Amino acid sequence: MVKENSFDRKYPWNLHKHKHIFVKFFISILLMGLAFRLLFSQSANFSPVSETPFVEKTSAGDTHLLDQALQLDDQATQNGKCDLFTGEWIPNPLGPIYTNESCHVVEEHQNCMKNGRPDSGYLYWRWKPHGCELPLFDSERFLEAMRNKSFAFIGDSISRNHVQSLLCILSKVEEGVEVYHDQEYKSRRWIFPSYNFTLSVLWSPFLVKAVISEDINGVSTSEVHVYLDKLDEKWADQFHSIDYSIISGGKWFLKSSMYWENNKIIGCHYCPGKNVTEIGYEQSYRRALRLMLNYVATSNYKGLTFFRPSTPDHFENGEWFSGGTCKRTVPYKEGEISLDSVDEMLRKIELEEFKKAVAIALEKGVNLKLLDTNHLSLLRPDGHPGPYRQFHPFAEGKNERVQNDCLHWCLPGPIDNWNDLVMEMVFNG
Ligand SMILES: *[C@@H]1O[C@H](CO)[C@@H](O)[C@H](O)[C@H]1NC(C)=O
Ligand SMILES: *[C@@H]1O[C@H](CO)[C@@H](O)[C@H](O)[C@H]1NC(C)=O
Ligand SMILES: *[C@@H]1O[C@H](CO)[C@@H](O)[C@H](O)[C@H]1NC(C)=O
Ligand SMILES: *[C@@H]1O[C@H](CO)[C@@H](O)[C@H](O)[C@H]1NC(C)=O
Repeated sequence: MVKENSFDRKYPWNLHKHKHIFVKFFISILLMGLAFRLLFSQSANFSPVSETPFVEKTSAGDTHLLDQALQLDDQATQNGKCDLFTGEWIPNPLGPIYTNESCHVVEEHQNCMKNGRPDSGYLYWRWKPHGCELPLFDSERFLEAMRNKSFAFIGDSISRNHVQSLLCILSKVEEGVEVYHDQEYKSRRWIFPSYNFTLSVLWSPFLVKAVISEDINGVSTSEVHVYLDKLDEKWADQFHSIDYSIISGGKWFLKSSMYWENNKIIGCHYCPGKNVTEIGYEQSYRRALRLMLNYVATSNYKGLTFFRPSTPDHFENGEWFSGGTCKRTVPYKEGEISLDSVDEMLRKIELEEFKKAVAIALEKGVNLKLLDTNHLSLLRPDGHPGPYRQFHPFAEGKNERVQNDCLHWCLPGPIDNWNDLVMEMVFNG
């Protein structure tokens, strides 16, 4: 029996219980195409920009939260080490390191300032772990340490979002020179000439081999074929020549898919009318992560690998396709928000698989770490483009109903702080 889980409520194009299956299926493909066009579209148009925005003052938390913080502090310091991922967002009057003017690699859909986002308070926060300081990113020190080295971001469009943030931050010291891009500008590589540092982003939304059928507009034309027993060679082939990597997956596993193992279809996720057993995205995500993490952990790899769990979205009052928005302008405080059930399921799988892999890695002397940006990102509903994924969406004469992006991050924006964590973990373990 197929049960309608929370995932289906959240992503109704995956409903598999209803009549008129064919129609639903068609609509689902259409919606999914649009979804992933929204989520993963990219544009080669980059744009420079302008003035530094003003500082918005914020107030401190109440005593209840302070108690909670102290408690967490105790927990974090008990094993002698500060937990970088437990903390709060505190005001940062310094604001972002770069602006829409100084960085030329910000993708149009994430260039919120240029696109007319009116508020700027979301730019003036930094992550403060309980029990220790997280230094702000130091580009010179980072680049110096990366001399003759290579760093790769492996995953989906959030990885692309993240690499663009790093490029922008580093551009204050030196701009990366693009030396490679694939046809669709999804995998790219840059060199920082003065440092002989190679930075790349490798497009691999499933991390395992997958055949994705999309038309030229990025609209899905059929389900994805995912090979759960084969790594995606796009990253696996060059993994050993990379010194640092950040690997992550997630939301693509929610797509309508056929799953292959041993050259046979072993099941699917949402494939009505195909006479294939529904096995759910949970199992496939788990198997794909296990294959990837196992490969890393047993690879004799000499570099440092970060596994970054997936990042939550903040659609409210609907989803991306049903008028969902993200209008908040300040971070949440601890306890004001929790993961929805789909994101919680993804996270559960991620942490369970990571835990197993890290034990193996430790035994084999492989350096595998968790870059756990999940919770601190959950606290930032204010950092998404929302309607400002489009250029001046509310300008006169434009339609009022615009699609919101409450998944990717504005640049500059909260994702910049992920790099503070990367820096800290590269230098201080
Ligand atoms: C940068 O953003 C500001 C608003 O903060 C805007 O006035 C300006 O036009 C933008 N510059 C570019 C080059 O997009
Ligand atoms: C750049 O770094 C690579 C190692 O990543 C090294 O083999 C090469 O000699 C370096 N080139 C220069 C010009 O320093
Ligand atoms: C980088 O590579 C060059 C050329 O191979 C070498 O001269 C230099 O010492 C290397 N620097 C570091 C920090 O490894
Ligand atoms: C569905 O698959 C099963 C097992 O492979 C097969 O026995 C059955 O005939 C198929 N049904 C249809 C309608 O194709």
